[in-house]
Amino acid sequence: MTSSPLAPAWLQHPADANDLPEPVWSRTAARTPEGQIAIGGVPASALAAEFGTPLYVVDETDARSRAREIRDAFATEAARVGTTAKIYYAGKAFLSIEVARWMAEEGLSIDVCSGGELAVALAAGVDPARIGLHGNNKSLAEIDRAVAVGVGVIVIDSAIEVERVAEAAARHGRVQAVRVRVNSGVHAHTHDFLATAHEDQKFGVRLDQAEAFAAAVRSHPELRFLGLHCHIGSQIFGADGFAESAARLLEAQALLLAGGEVPELNLGGGFGIAYTTADDPTPIAELAAAIVDAVAAECARLGIAVPALAFEPGRSIIGTAGATLYEVGTIKDVLVSVPGETGEPLELVRKYVSVDGGMSDNARPALYGADYSVRIANRVSAADPALVRVAGKHCESGDIVVQADYLPGDVEPGDLVFVPATGAYCWSLASNYNYLGRPAVVAVSDGRARLIVRRETEHDLLARDAAYSADPARAAAGEPLGAAR
Ligand SMILES: Cc1ncc(COP(=O)(O)O)c(C=O)c1O
Repeated sequence: MTSSPLAPAWLQHPADANDLPEPVWSRTAARTPEGQIAIGGVPASALAAEFGTPLYVVDETDARSRAREIRDAFATEAARVGTTAKIYYAGKAFLSIEVARWMAEEGLSIDVCSGGELAVALAAGVDPARIGLHGNNKSLAEIDRAVAVGVGVIVIDSAIEVERVAEAAARHGRVQAVRVRVNSGVHAHTHDFLATAHEDQKFGVRLDQAEAFAAAVRSHPELRFLGLHCHIGSQIFGADGFAESAARLLEAQALLLAGGEVPELNLGGGFGIAYTTADDPTPIAELAAAIVDAVAAECARLGIAVPALAFEPGRSIIGTAGATLYEVGTIKDVLVSVPGETGEPLELVRKYVSVDGGMSDNARPALYGADYSVRIANRVSAADPALVRVAGKHCESGDIVVQADYLPGDVEPGDLVFVPATGAYCWSLASNYNYLGRPAVVAVSDGRARLIVRRETEHDLLARDAAYSADPARAAAGEPLGAAR
């Protein structure tokens, strides 16, 4: 069978629309003998029956194993060139108390970028010394709390923050370790990177200001300068962008060493994952070797010691561990007219499969045009594959979960579907648009599912409305009024 002319060029007509290709699905995802998709050994219909849909499912085994792989890959490569590598899990990708604990147990530090994320990491019992705080506009209260609890490092993003962090450190009688976030001028995404002199963006300071910033930090006895920080982008597949950025940062590092110690260099996160079979992320061991080689070579050229390295991956740890389970509601065959090979109009069918969630639980397709894939989760089918578009239930035509994939053509209302690789930047970007309650999150492993964040109820949706909570009858009813779908 050939691909539908409505399918994007990268999407091949599948030999089997029931398969679970390994780079896209979490490591424990498999079909049961009855044909269901099980993750962590828990079949889709059991998950839906116990927790409802839509449902975020996080494969604990997958998340932990990827955390360990990244930790070990960079530790091994760093040791090879006589240094160390610290891995911060970027909590913005997905943070809950449970997940923060997994990361800490696997020996990772945690990167937070707001007071809320800091609160979650602290509630998880993460040692504050292993927390880093980011952000281009940290409030005074956020800085004060971070210093007061003793976070390991604060990443300074502007001149004002040098003074604000120093004041907070003086107030609490602490010496606060800080990095300075700089723009290396390298911006990377997937296979490409752009290297410019300056970047037009809100984060960090110009690289040619690094010396002035280091001097400002060093002028405060309450601050300890750890080094530079740079994050060049997201969903990056090769090492070239990191290597170019590191080369630029190390030139600055050599200058900074003239004014005092610069023990570390943080090269940020951004390692890519497979959202569809068209994506081919570089294996982490390869990436770690290439980045560390580039750093070591540049240090040798400059005649400086290789600094302790730090990285902040989020998506590459939690992205593939997550999948979202939906129930199919309505199905519509939409006739689409496209020009045929000789220019005459060709009438084709695109099957719109609508599910019980959408852009409120996964904003990435609407925000970035992100691609995902989909599989029927409660059964296998031998029906011919049909090109589908998975739509959400929001009042927005851009409310699409999966732009294009093939499902067995007999997909029907009541089927469960899994959208894989939704572990990063889905739950953390979730909203209550159209007053949909945010889904529950369950962790699965070894045949067991545990609720780690409960579903929002109708009561949750109404509780902050002053008129609702001012009504004694409603308040007395105690709610919750039931699952908000
Ligand atoms: C400063 C910083 N560090 C780390 C990350 C994590 O990136 P990723 O999840 O792509 O690894 C981000 C993502 O935006 C970031 O801004």
